[in-house]
Amino acid sequence: MPFDVNNIRQQFPILHTKIGKYPLIYFDNGATSQKPQVVIDCINDYYETENANIHRGVHHLSQVSTEKYEQARKTIQTYINAQHDYEVIFTQGTTDGINLVAHSFGKLLNAGDEILISQMEHHSNIVPWQMLAEERGLVLKYIPMNQAGELEMGQLDNLLTDKTKLVSITHISNALGTINPIEKIISAAHKVGAKVLIDGAQSLQHMQIDVQKLDCDFLVFSGHKVFGPTGVGVLYGKEALLNAMPPYQGGGDMIKKVTMEKTTYNGLPHKFEAGTPNIIGGIGLGKAIEWLAEQDLEAIKEHEDELLTYATAQLSEIEGMQFYGTSEAKGSTISFLIEGTHPYDVGTLLNQQGIAVRTGHHCTQPIMAFYKIPGTIRASFSFYNTKEEIDQFIIALKKAVSMLS
Ligand code: ALA
Repeated sequence: MPFDVNNIRQQFPILHTKIGKYPLIYFDNGATSQKPQVVIDCINDYYETENANIHRGVHHLSQVSTEKYEQARKTIQTYINAQHDYEVIFTQGTTDGINLVAHSFGKLLNAGDEILISQMEHHSNIVPWQMLAEERGLVLKYIPMNQAGELEMGQLDNLLTDKTKLVSITHISNALGTINPIEKIISAAHKVGAKVLIDGAQSLQHMQIDVQKLDCDFLVFSGHKVFGPTGVGVLYGKEALLNAMPPYQGGGDMIKKVTMEKTTYNGLPHKFEAGTPNIIGGIGLGKAIEWLAEQDLEAIKEHEDELLTYATAQLSEIEGMQFYGTSEAKGSTISFLIEGTHPYDVGTLLNQQGIAVRTGHHCTQPIMAFYKIPGTIRASFSFYNTKEEIDQFIIALKKAVSMLS
């Protein structure tokens, strides 16, 4: 069946709302995705008919909730092709997943060990490592980037040493859209015995990821960016590695036995899921992934690539246009500035015409420092966006620029 954007749009109620008198044009998918009706219904139905705590009750609702939560884990396992469902740990989101690894895997590291990140990471993939490096006397290095916003891959082999214990790298830059050559990075890191964490926050909604084929050691992503609810995410980790890591937080559900003197811990995945989790978050994310798995991902990629090419061509015609992130390998995100205007003002005037973009540093201050700019205007597309919306965006943008100059 050919890709039918109208059919997709019908499934997202929010896309039919208005901002003032203007139809909403939502180009802030890098920040969060909108939700299809099946996910909204799943959340409503759960609270109306099934709500209970999980792993704790013999009663009917608790059993139903537990089954649904664990089924969601299996759905995610199948989608990312993890070997076992217990390699899928529910977290609060990408940031939480990275912090879990920093706190837990970090305890296995010693002074002088090295961690390698890149210059284009989101703050959530910089700050936890800086904190850990300070705490444990580790050395934090980064792969620099070039003007196009691509990693300087030629430097990788020099940066990796036999002391490198972890490479933590974004798959797609949230600020620039660059798709990083993670396969090459994973294989180079493994040659020196380092583990690799892939930040999939900006990639899972655009492309299929097979963790076994990729051979990454960890993968983290957020539910809200893959058409699911906020406050939930996933850490995938290889079984042996997760087993070797100590728990992150202590509390209920993560224990086997507690006495006043000592605690023994539960097995995977519960060892890393202390306390009552975000139950509907997990179930809603499972539903979102189930829905995503039914879509034609090849067609989605083609459509998003078309949107990117079309928007880039239209934007190029605007006087004073400067793009940031011009890599050949690029996701459907465009970051730009227009000479003589401030991104915040442009974003505000676009909003007044019903258009949602993100402005600012996008939690990537080192990227902004590299380009010596305060921030950018970022339009990030999803597969429910259309060329007609881009046409409206260009008209609105030209109007905004004329008002500001
Ligand atoms: N990390 C999200 C973004 O890029 C919030 O907008």
